[in-house]
Amino acid sequence: MHSFDEYKDIVNAHLTDLIPDTGDEASELADAMRYSLEVGGKRLRPSLLLASCEFAGGSIDEALPYALALEYIHTYSLIHDDLPAMDNDDLRRGKPTNHKVFGEAMAILAGDGLLSTAAEIVTGSPLDHSGDPVKLRDHIRAAHEIMSRAGASGMIAGQTADIKGEKLEPTAELIRFIELHKTADLITAPVRAGLMLAGADEDMLERFTVYARDVGVAFQILDDILDIEGDQALLGKTLGKDAEQGKCNYAFVHGPEAARTELHRLTSEAKEALAPYGHEASFFTDLADSLEIRKY
Ligand code: IPE
Ligand code: IPE
Ligand code: MG
Ligand code: MG
Ligand code: MG
Repeated sequence: MHSFDEYKDIVNAHLTDLIPDTGDEASELADAMRYSLEVGGKRLRPSLLLASCEFAGGSIDEALPYALALEYIHTYSLIHDDLPAMDNDDLRRGKPTNHKVFGEAMAILAGDGLLSTAAEIVTGSPLDHSGDPVKLRDHIRAAHEIMSRAGASGMIAGQTADIKGEKLEPTAELIRFIELHKTADLITAPVRAGLMLAGADEDMLERFTVYARDVGVAFQILDDILDIEGDQALLGKTLGKDAEQGKCNYAFVHGPEAARTELHRLTSEAKEALAPYGHEASFFTDLADSLEIRKY
């Protein structure tokens, strides 16, 4: 196993390797896609994919294309999330949002380009392993895991509930649905896909699914707390947007203090799911702890 920063360095070193050649006529598309990728980011999701694959005995080389696909999907979700028709944000990763630099049409297309590139990657990779039926199955499972959690029963369902939720009664069920889908699905996908690529057994998949779901929900709860009481310079996004737009989230509805209690409960539950692995799983338990106290 490597450290989080080592995984992040691997991702950053190869970040735009799989961006296709758009041709000179569409070169602005490639520029817009690269802009949002290269402008920064924690690289949490791709690092989780590499780490889970290695944890279960798989190889980084095989996992890397899927890790990049995950970061492309995540980055597209941010570009579209920031559009005037969605959250209408001017600042992302400390820099002007994609539509502020390239215009709305290009920002929509850059998101489309990143999502479809991810689909191209995860359907292309299994083809490279078609000679080995077991590997082929593992790769197809990983590909399906990523695309389904990114899709209409996953992240997009969460984003829909988030937008619709601005005008609805903030019930506990609705808040949890939003956290689970808009955020936890894109944190669960890399963890499960990484394990699947390494051929992990069902017991390991189940334990890590609980871990990733809890860390994912906790991640969104803290994102919502930081929108209220974070440091804009550290976060690289405009604060106070959720209150302004009447977003349906735990911190806005119950207050930051109650949200921190829930954040801590989820972090403990996440670590507990991996208790049978003891020190072997310290990458994941340490990461859960560091995410609980993150400032950005
Ligand atoms: C932001 O995700 C969107 C949420 C799900 C809260 P990150 O906080 O991981 O964003 P980057 O990748 O570091 O910019
Ligand atoms: C967005 O949640 C989650 C996505 C799927 C992009 P937010 O709208 O709270 O994310 P930020 O605060 O803009 O990063
Ligand atoms: Mg949003
Ligand atoms: Mg937003
Ligand atoms: Mg937010």
